[in-house]
Amino acid sequence: MSRGRGDGDQTKRFVTWIVVLSIICGCVYLYSRNSGTSALEYGSKSLRKLGSSYLGGEDDGDETTNKSGEEVQGDIILKSIPVCDDRHSELIPCLDRNLIYQTRLKLDLSLMEHYERHCPVPERRFNCLIPPPPGYKVPIKWPKSRDEVWKVNIPHTHLASEKSDQNWMVVKGDKISFPGGGTHFHYGADKYIASIANMLNFSNNNLNNEGRLRTVLDVGCGVASFGGYLLSSDIIAMSLAPNDVHQNQIQFALERGIPAYLGVLGTKRLPYPSRSFELAHCSRCRIDWLQRDGILLLELDRLLRPGGYFAYSSPEAYAQDEEDLRIWKEMSALVERMCWKIAAKRNQTVIWVKPLTNDCYKQREPGTRPPLCKSDDDPDAVWGVPMKACITPYSNQQHKAKGTGLAPWPARLITPPPRLADFGYSAEMFDKGHESLAAQG
Ligand SMILES: C[S@@+](CC[C@H](N)C(=O)[O-])C[C@H]1O[C@@H](n2cnc3c(N)ncnc32)[C@H](O)[C@@H]1O
Repeated sequence: MSRGRGDGDQTKRFVTWIVVLSIICGCVYLYSRNSGTSALEYGSKSLRKLGSSYLGGEDDGDETTNKSGEEVQGDIILKSIPVCDDRHSELIPCLDRNLIYQTRLKLDLSLMEHYERHCPVPERRFNCLIPPPPGYKVPIKWPKSRDEVWKVNIPHTHLASEKSDQNWMVVKGDKISFPGGGTHFHYGADKYIASIANMLNFSNNNLNNEGRLRTVLDVGCGVASFGGYLLSSDIIAMSLAPNDVHQNQIQFALERGIPAYLGVLGTKRLPYPSRSFELAHCSRCRIDWLQRDGILLLELDRLLRPGGYFAYSSPEAYAQDEEDLRIWKEMSALVERMCWKIAAKRNQTVIWVKPLTNDCYKQREPGTRPPLCKSDDDPDAVWGVPMKACITPYSNQQHKAKGTGLAPWPARLITPPPRLADFGYSAEMFDKGHESLAAQG
């Protein structure tokens, strides 16, 4: 009997050993498969490689291609780029709040520096593919998308309730619709745009002004209905806003098919060369234009073409309380010193216009602020360049031409811009380049 029990115990122990051994072997096998090449690292290596050639970065030099065409890095064969896990489905590279928190960046919140780009060091990059949200549908096509998108593609309805009285967006079953309203234009961006054109006496209340007004910058755009409604007038607007309390606003704008990007008038120049826009717009964007010697207004000045407009709809332009009157007075004095003039003012909107030449700058009293930018400032250097509280004067060519000399759109597409002379290019070179592009079809 006792011998029999001993045999039974031995068998049990043997089986237990086998099970434990199998588990250990299983773990070792899984570990060896993943060790050093976990989804993120694996993708990191492959994408870092792709990134280095794309961005012109340095080559690691440890990579070859094997006979079957697969990339080989050291002993790793790259077959696919992994997908990031679902937590990262809304990760915005270089605008990642967690990163700012984890790396304890000391950013000036009052200047909105935390809404500007802060890219992680290469080792901390999420080099994996951002997965779409669950249930993602093929986006609705333009032009229908201006007015409605699939809710499942941007499952955030916060703005619909937050801005319900302003008609920003409305949840309708499985879609989110955009009636075209905004904080300043509850009854539609189209009517508001026509009223701006009317203020400027443009024919047929068309802001396009017979092709002379083509490029617009909308600062503090919300869901970008203003820019969206300009497209039908052949005007292309770049809309920008930060990922602030109006979270997902830019996601909606892009899902709608409206050009937009996450950005902020904070501390760095916006990523456009000087003289890029014919009109800048800001409605109820709550920006303090008087801060730091008018630096933000001077950034708009840098971006506007000679004769460019700034359309501003905000309580300071109409409210009569003490604080708004004070701001209006100070803003008026500042823009006057910047040589801007009021082109029109009606109801809640003022439109300023920039000078066409340097004459007004030259006539200012010595020591007038804001100063002209130093001659060694390159107004077209923008990437990561801090804003400067100075006025960018026109080049000799622009000053003499009394404006941009640009052809109206669409002829502008194939007519050499006089500004090319500033960069040492002739009209003939432009024509040749254009002809060779046309020949390539
Ligand atoms: C009340 S909403 C108005 C939106 C839109 N202009 C309208 O009239 O419906 C204010 C907008 O300004 C943006 N904003 C606030 N401060 C900004 C800044 N410094 N630079 C760019 N946008 C800013 C906000 O993110 C938001 O999109």
